[in-house]
This record gives sequence, structure tokens and C-alpha cells, in this order.
Amino acid sequence: MPVTEFSVSEKYKYQNGFNAYHETEAVEGALPVGANNPQKAPLGLYNEKLSGTAFTAPRHENQQSWLYRILPASAHAPFAPRENSTYNTNPENKPHERIHQIPNQLRWDPFDMDETVDWVHSLHLVAGAGDPIMKAGIGMFIYAAGKDMHEHEAFYSADGDFLIVPQHGVLDIQTELGRILVRPNEICVIPRGIRYRVTLPEGPVRGYILELYQNHFTLPDLGPMGSNALANSRDFQAPVASFVEDHDGQNTYTILSKFAGHLFAAEQKHTPFDVVAWHGNYYPYKYDLGRFNTMGSISYDHPDPSIFTVLTAQSDRPGTAIADFVIFPPRWLVAEDTFRPPWYHRNTMSEFMGLIHGQYDAKTGGGFQPAGASLHNIMSAHGPDASTHEKASNAELKPMKVGEGSMAFMFESCLMVGVTDWGLKKCAKVQSDYNAESWEPLKPHFKRPTPGKMLNDLPRGSDGKIGDKSQVPHWTS
Ligand SMILES: [Fe+2]
Repeated sequence: MPVTEFSVSEKYKYQNGFNAYHETEAVEGALPVGANNPQKAPLGLYNEKLSGTAFTAPRHENQQSWLYRILPASAHAPFAPRENSTYNTNPENKPHERIHQIPNQLRWDPFDMDETVDWVHSLHLVAGAGDPIMKAGIGMFIYAAGKDMHEHEAFYSADGDFLIVPQHGVLDIQTELGRILVRPNEICVIPRGIRYRVTLPEGPVRGYILELYQNHFTLPDLGPMGSNALANSRDFQAPVASFVEDHDGQNTYTILSKFAGHLFAAEQKHTPFDVVAWHGNYYPYKYDLGRFNTMGSISYDHPDPSIFTVLTAQSDRPGTAIADFVIFPPRWLVAEDTFRPPWYHRNTMSEFMGLIHGQYDAKTGGGFQPAGASLHNIMSAHGPDASTHEKASNAELKPMKVGEGSMAFMFESCLMVGVTDWGLKKCAKVQSDYNAESWEPLKPHFKRPTPGKMLNDLPRGSDGKIGDKSQVPHWTS
């Protein structure tokens, strides 16, 4: 079915379209007509511009929105460091907690829930590359939380865009631009700078985050597939304007900023969620992975997994992604004379995988579990585990549905991804037997042809030349 049947019902309205130019007003007449910056904005609101790209970025990359709000975002006291000694999501800032670049294949048991913390304090950097200070690279986080953010708090990351992949629990996200409900099998992108508050209407939550320090996510080109395939533009949902009035100075609000991997806090005497209307193409959005229009082979072999790309963020080199978000959804396999799981491979790209639910069809041995993860770094060899190879090599090649009830995903990057101290040691989830369980049991199946059939054993004539051309492929003499 092309839509996920969620156990928790939707409760908000959205406007549809990826990178579409949206406009929305919670009160009729709040949006100015024509001018973005009138001398007096309608209804006594303030004009505010939120730019997600440089002013002069090419038109097809340019992202910005105009916000019409009760008080501008700048109306707050200065930021001060908050929990500077404990909150650190950029280990490059702390040389003794640097990211470890290692060639091992890594796999993690399911990460623990933590019901003692809220969204902001649930973020654990597992792996990453680059540096938000240079707006270069990515961070990969696990979040696990059990508490709502305080009623009078809002959080934003100045470091990058958050691509949030819930594995367990529901996120109710109040953003400046409107409200979004995100459930497992949906993803959500909150661009750099947008302020939001996360509450947990169904209890504890856990999931994965890819933070993109550079550029923004976009849809992959479809090439010969044509104009509709994979994630279709119309299925991305952006919030409609929704605001709160609390400006009498009675309540103190805290704005929390993730800035170069550290946490800062500033206070203000009014709600930050007071945007009455907005228009533009820089906004948070969500997408139901059940709507992905999966493509694949209907003859033989299977395509590269790039054919399962939902969103991509390109580097300066065309076709080479700083980050691809790739999924392995339920799908039909029909290819003839084909080893149907992924091939054994070593890639110049690095691959961080997670599992939302079910069982990933390339890893049936049981070690790759929902809420766990794996990392196959640059040129680190991997592929199906021994049991999967055995089954797939002998399977009857009839049409079959794989991944039913399952959703695995991959954050793929052209960068060498390192692992933090937390990811390698403190979380205590790294499986020491990953290779022993997956690939070391692989048995050789090679059988030497009978003598006389091998190229170098062919009978030779008295002149020393091979005598039977029919036995020699690509005969050239
Ligand atoms: Fe791979």
C-alpha cells in the first residue's frame, strides 16, 4: 500500500510539495500582498526574513522565507553557555574526545531508551565527519528521550539541517512555522535555525538523526526513470502557520541554541511561537516512507542501492553526495538468475545503516536489530552474512516480496565517517563478534575444473601453441 497505516492518527494540517513556494496565514489578512517588507506589516506584525542560503545563491538553490510575527526572534537577552562541560556534539572542539577513524566494520546492538531526558539532552553523536564551524560535513546522532521539552523552551541548531528518523514513539514538534506530527516510518527535516519544541504524546521516543552541516537536502534526479518515481514531490508535507499569544511578560522563555556543537541559552519574556503568517521555500517538512515509489530490476541483476534514494545532499562534485538518505522498503524481487541480496562490496562511499522495524533482507542472522546500527566505512568490505548467502544462493528464484513489515535505511556519504568515544565505548553497544558472526563463517565453494579444461593446462602442439581454439575464450592469435 502506498501509504503507511499509522497507529497514531494525524492531527495537523499541511501543505504539500517538496521545495515548493508555500504561503500560509493563521489569521486572514496577515500576509502582505506584493511587498515582503511593507512599512507597516498587516495586523501590527513584524516582518522577519529567514534565509537558508546566501542571498546570492543561484535561483534553483535559493531558500528563504518571510515570517510575519508578533515580536521578532531577536527580542531576547544575550546567549550564555549552558552545560558546556557535558553537552558537546562536536568532538572536534575537544581534542581528547576526537572522532576515531577506523577501518573496522562496526555494528551496534539497539541503543538504550533514556526516559530521564528531553529532546535537547537526548542527542548523542555516534559518528560523523567534518565540522559545523566550516559548514562542511555531517553528524549522525541517536536520540532517546522520555520527557517533553519544558513548556517555555525552544531549541534550534545553527550547525545544520536535522533529518530525523523516528524508530520508536511519536514526536509532536511545534515549530515557528507550524506544527508537525512525526511517527515511525515518517521522516522529518528541520532546517538550520528554525526554532522548535518537541513533546512526546505517546511516551518515550528513540531514533536517528543525520545533521547536514552544508547545503540542504534535495530530491535525486530521476534520469531515464522519468518524471515520477522514488519520493514524489507532492508527498512532502510542510506545516501551516500556527501561533501562540503570550506577550504580557509574565512568563520567561528559554531559547536553546546548538552552536558549534555546544549548548547556549537565552531568555525572553514572550513566546517564540508567534509567527502568524509566512511565505517562502525554507521550512520544516515531513514525508511518509510508505509513499516511496520503489524501482528495481525486472530482468536480471539488481541496480545500485542509489535507486532507493529518498533525499540527497550533493557535494560540489556532481553525483557525489555529502549525504544520501536511502531506504530499503518492502518490495518485489523478480530478477532471473540473480543473487538477489546485495553483492559483496567495498565502496569509496561510507554507509551508516539503521533499522526502524522488521528484519533487513541482507542481514537475516539476527545481529542487525531495530534501533541498532552498522557502519561500513570507506573501502571496508561487507555484504550478506553467511546465512543469507547460503539461503540466497539456493533460493528458488520465483517472484517474492522482501522486507514485508520492515524498513531499513542508510545514511551514505562520500566522507570518511569517524566514530565518537560515545559511539565506540560509552554506549557499550558495539558488537565484538560482528565479523565472526557475519563473514568469517563464509566457506569457499570454488571447484577446480577437471584437468584439460583449465586454460593453462590445455594440450599444446609440438610448436608449443595451444591446439584447440574452441577451448580458449577470446582467441587472438
Ligand atoms: Fe553496503
